[in-house]
Amino acid sequence: SAAEKQGYDWFMRKEIFEQPKAVADTLLGRWSDRGELVLDEVRISPEELRRINKIVIVACGSAFYAGMVAKYAIEHWTRVACEVELASEFRYRDPIIDPMTLVITISQSGETADTLMAIRHAREQHARVIAICNTNGATIPRESDAVIYTHAGPEIGVASTKGFLTQVVACYLLGLYLAQIRGMKYGDEIRALVDELESMPDKIQRVLDGIEPVYELARKMARDEDAVFFLGRHVGYPVALEGALKLKEIAYLHAEGFAAGELKHGAIAVVEEGTPVFVVVPPEGRDQLHDKVVSNIEEIRARGARTIVLAEEGDTAVSAFADMLISLPRCSTLLQPLVAAVPLQAFACELATAKGHDVDQPRNLAKSVTVE
Ligand code: G6P
Repeated sequence: SAAEKQGYDWFMRKEIFEQPKAVADTLLGRWSDRGELVLDEVRISPEELRRINKIVIVACGSAFYAGMVAKYAIEHWTRVACEVELASEFRYRDPIIDPMTLVITISQSGETADTLMAIRHAREQHARVIAICNTNGATIPRESDAVIYTHAGPEIGVASTKGFLTQVVACYLLGLYLAQIRGMKYGDEIRALVDELESMPDKIQRVLDGIEPVYELARKMARDEDAVFFLGRHVGYPVALEGALKLKEIAYLHAEGFAAGELKHGAIAVVEEGTPVFVVVPPEGRDQLHDKVVSNIEEIRARGARTIVLAEEGDTAVSAFADMLISLPRCSTLLQPLVAAVPLQAFACELATAKGHDVDQPRNLAKSVTVE
């Protein structure tokens, strides 16, 4: 009903705007008086978690992209090899898992059949399973060894938004927790990262406060039927995939996400005069990542692409190649998905609205897919 939407036209839009709170709620109470990250729900002993020699993340849809972000963070922080796989592929290919494997499963609903089958298979092989889930008492957390709940509140829009963002947050927390108990990172470093995480709700709010130009772009682009491309590198790559997925799900546009560095190995052939391309630019830092993405933008611009560039505020290197610039608040590379995904969600929501689609109930899709 209108009352439940609290003045928003769609649940999805309401949920996009709830993200600062959803992220803050998911972070609540994770830091103890003893100066440690606490994840009380993870009832697997530290001894056992120290023995883990491989992590496998399984999920579907947006949750899978959250898992891709997690892989970058978890390997960086813990130095434990981490794979991420689509739940529907994992189950049927005889994956190598054993009691030393930690399986992390991510599911907003906790009822997705592909994901459930994947964890049943993992547990048959005696792997330990931690679920990241937004729904209390759902089947997937019940069938897991432990669960970290995201505190996004009910998500009604079929296309995941606050569900996705809080999954990413829960993955960061789990990664840092594993780093802590495995002694890879100590007190100050973890505290600094938790502090930075705690600064993210305000940054997400700032992105939302400045969303109008993104809406204007969406309304303009609703008039043509061009395919839309999304590029990113490192954790910006799953953000690009998620941006494309939102557009497919609710705007029914042909949209594709690419790893920016892979473009030259094929996909650049489809870029032509006027092709809209969103590019997620990593923060300027010590590594060369930022400059590599800037040169990727140059390449596509030279072939006539219309570039919509998401870059850190104050990033002057990109402005020359951006037909439109969307500024993102400053943060470290690994945490950037929390701000970079938001304009892409809002863009899809507004474009689908302008096209007259039912944003909350897109054709052919279900909120939770309980068949394999
Ligand atoms: C469905 C939804 C997607 C969602 C996926 C995984 O396909 O339409 O938005 O990302 O399921 O859902 P889950 O509840 O397991 O996170």
